[in-house]
Amino acid sequence: MRAYDIIYKKRQGLELTKAEIEFLISGYNNGEIPDYQISAFAMAVFFQGMTSRETADLTESIINSGDKIDFSKIEGIKVDKHSTGGVGDTVSLIIAPIIAYFGAPFAKMSGRGLGHTGGTLDKLESIEGFNINLTSKEFIEKVNKNKVAVMGQTAKLAPADGKLYSLRDVTATVDSVPLIASSIMSKKLAAGADGIVLDVKTGDGAFMKSIDDSFKLAEEMVDIGNHLDKETIALVTNMNQPLGEAIGNSLEVIEAFETLKGRGPKDLTDLCITVAGHMLVIAKIFDNNKLAENEVREVIEKGKSLDKMKEFIAGQGGNSRVVDNYDLLPVAQYKHQLESPAEGYISKIEAEELGKIAMMLGAGRAVITDSIDHSVGIKVHKKQGDRIKKGEHIATIYSNEDKLNSNIEKRTIDSFHVTPTKVEKEPLIYGVVT
Ligand code: URA
Ligand code: CA
Repeated sequence: MRAYDIIYKKRQGLELTKAEIEFLISGYNNGEIPDYQISAFAMAVFFQGMTSRETADLTESIINSGDKIDFSKIEGIKVDKHSTGGVGDTVSLIIAPIIAYFGAPFAKMSGRGLGHTGGTLDKLESIEGFNINLTSKEFIEKVNKNKVAVMGQTAKLAPADGKLYSLRDVTATVDSVPLIASSIMSKKLAAGADGIVLDVKTGDGAFMKSIDDSFKLAEEMVDIGNHLDKETIALVTNMNQPLGEAIGNSLEVIEAFETLKGRGPKDLTDLCITVAGHMLVIAKIFDNNKLAENEVREVIEKGKSLDKMKEFIAGQGGNSRVVDNYDLLPVAQYKHQLESPAEGYISKIEAEELGKIAMMLGAGRAVITDSIDHSVGIKVHKKQGDRIKKGEHIATIYSNEDKLNSNIEKRTIDSFHVTPTKVEKEPLIYGVVT
């Protein structure tokens, strides 16, 4: 077999065999096939696409490039959850103790934030002492004891994905549905998930800006799951505004605790209930979604999973008293209140722009080696569809500088689009793909 012939075949729009795909990915992974051939291949896939079968085979080849983690010692059906990356997406933090409360294992390998999206690991590290550097053995022990643990993803997991992703990043081939779908699913499956709930974000703050493309990505990922015999469902959800009110690490931790006390923002609470409900059905804790969602709603309203949250934090070395005392979290020294320059209705909030501003404040990284400031971020006080008066507080910026940079102030205010006429609230969930 020759890489050239496989690239040519894909360029002509023909379907590749499993052996051809495996040849390319394993050759690339062990250094026998150079970057420039894989770049050409990625571009051919970008233009010609892949069938579901090819995409599933690509996913398997990427999984086979590294260690498959043996989590068979984790008791119960392990359901993983993945979001394609949003702004202010605090869902994982909130559902972790809820899933565990019902006795299903929440064993999650999470990532760090990069660019305009945050990461669960960074948020958890706002909590004093919280340790995400667990060995697989410690991770398994903690999940079996407390039903919940979160650790960083090891570099040995699907290494071909990391290499391929860096190439795509510099060759304008990131936004290809089969390449994104196989990238995401390979990591989830290599991490040993028995079932997966995917939250495909759509709109301004998301990878996929159009609803149609988002459904295509959702369908592709569900197809891969089905081909590989893992129960998979995908929600397509709105990212035309940040999720909830808080963006930034410690602010989102507080938002998570508030949500677990039944006082969270409505959109965030509703999405947590839906995601957790699907996970608990796949984990066979409940036999239908309606029942599962009602039970989750009650746990949130009555604050029943707070003890589990404390167990989770303490189990990883963190100070669990933060759940009751937010002063134990780092919160920025200065709160800058921003006022609306106009009166009317909020038609849209540029989530990606707010994510970038949070990053500039220090909440996120431009490159993976940057360090972050857990205490800074943004709180939005109005959401899409809300009415606002001139001079009313629209957002608060949490910063450690007493004087706010005027560019940051202007860009934050400009992220809120205000129109004089009433606008309808957009749906939170556009659909579910099973
Ligand atoms: N997230 C991933 O993990 N991979 C992609 O290709 C895109 C988003
Ligand atoms: Ca949030």
